[in-house]
Amino acid sequence: MTLRLAIVLPTLDERENIAPLLTRIAEAMGPEGWEAIVVDDASADGTADEARRLARNDLRVRVIERIGRRGLASAAIEGICATAAPFVAVMDADHQHDPALLPAMLAALESGACEVAVASRYVAGASAEGLASTRRERGSRLAVRLARRLAGVDLSDPMSGYFALRTDTARALAPRMSQIGFKVLLDLLASAPRPLRVREFPLHFAERRSGVSKLDRAVAFDFLVGLYDKTFGSVVPTRFALFGTVGGLGVLVHLAVLAALYRVGGAAFIPAQALATFAAMTFNFWFNNWLTYRDRRLRGVRALLRGWAGFCAACAVGAVANVAVAGLLEGYGLHWLLAAGAGILVGAVWNYALSSRFVWKR
Ligand code: GDD
Ligand code: MN
Repeated sequence: MTLRLAIVLPTLDERENIAPLLTRIAEAMGPEGWEAIVVDDASADGTADEARRLARNDLRVRVIERIGRRGLASAAIEGICATAAPFVAVMDADHQHDPALLPAMLAALESGACEVAVASRYVAGASAEGLASTRRERGSRLAVRLARRLAGVDLSDPMSGYFALRTDTARALAPRMSQIGFKVLLDLLASAPRPLRVREFPLHFAERRSGVSKLDRAVAFDFLVGLYDKTFGSVVPTRFALFGTVGGLGVLVHLAVLAALYRVGGAAFIPAQALATFAAMTFNFWFNNWLTYRDRRLRGVRALLRGWAGFCAACAVGAVANVAVAGLLEGYGLHWLLAAGAGILVGAVWNYALSSRFVWKR
């Protein structure tokens, strides 16, 4: 039998959902050649173990377990790149996406009727009762309206997590994708050099079967990040923008601590400045770990201490670069404010390069 379709199932704590979902997929696909690739981010509930147990008895099931990584989008891409099947579908593993749509989506792709098949919650004949709250639904619809602009394609549900396309198309687009957050489809469509031909399939977005949604907290934020990435991301990379924003807040922390110790507390300037620097670095480390590198977040006392020490070392190198560049430019007669600004920028780039290479390494 030839392999036609790979079904990528990103999972985070979906142990109970996996076995029944694979049964439903097998029923839907019938005699068609398919494989399912579970991409699990080291779930605490043993999802990967359960998937491996199933895979031992069914050669159509494969498992990728990622250690120390997080993120729906990057998990989906990793699964897509791991198959030899000519077509690939991505779907949620919690039963909100009905596998019964798979054969029609595959047929539309194989016949060339479309380049991307999207299971939509908002097209005629579909329903979205699985969106837990009306607030979530309203938020979702608003996000959809914004996202439609970005995708460059007329699509009722560019935020759908259930879609299929040619594997080599996805593989070619992957290097241009931000892979941050969970808007995989939007990321794919917006990364294409020309609008892709899309067809939508009405989906009854069901209730999740077991477990809880992983996206509620991160939804709005990741979406904003995605918007930024697609509009300004090619000018100033998203991560650097976040890093810079955190750095700006760090300056405020520095000044506040300095003012409290030196102006209010009556401390001497040098120790006050030293403590303020220390406070700002610690704040920046913590905030970057929480926000800028939330997909590679350091956890546990040892990792945090090592990361924090590494971050302080990176800051020291950045500070040397900062002072050297500013001093040089000022020496050439550049206005002191411009020289300082250039120094800060060079220092920040150094900081960023060193800390993403050595502190929050992949
Ligand atoms: N590997 C991995 N890593 N999988 C993840 C991660 C992660 O960090 N986060 C979530 N997942 C998996 C979940 O286990 C599930 O199989 C799927 O991704 C979707 O996650 P849910 O937590 O169930 O998301 P949702 O139901 O709230 O969100 C749905 O609607 C969004 C739009 O409103 C999904 O269909 C999204 O894809 C969709 O964008
Ligand atoms: Mn879900």
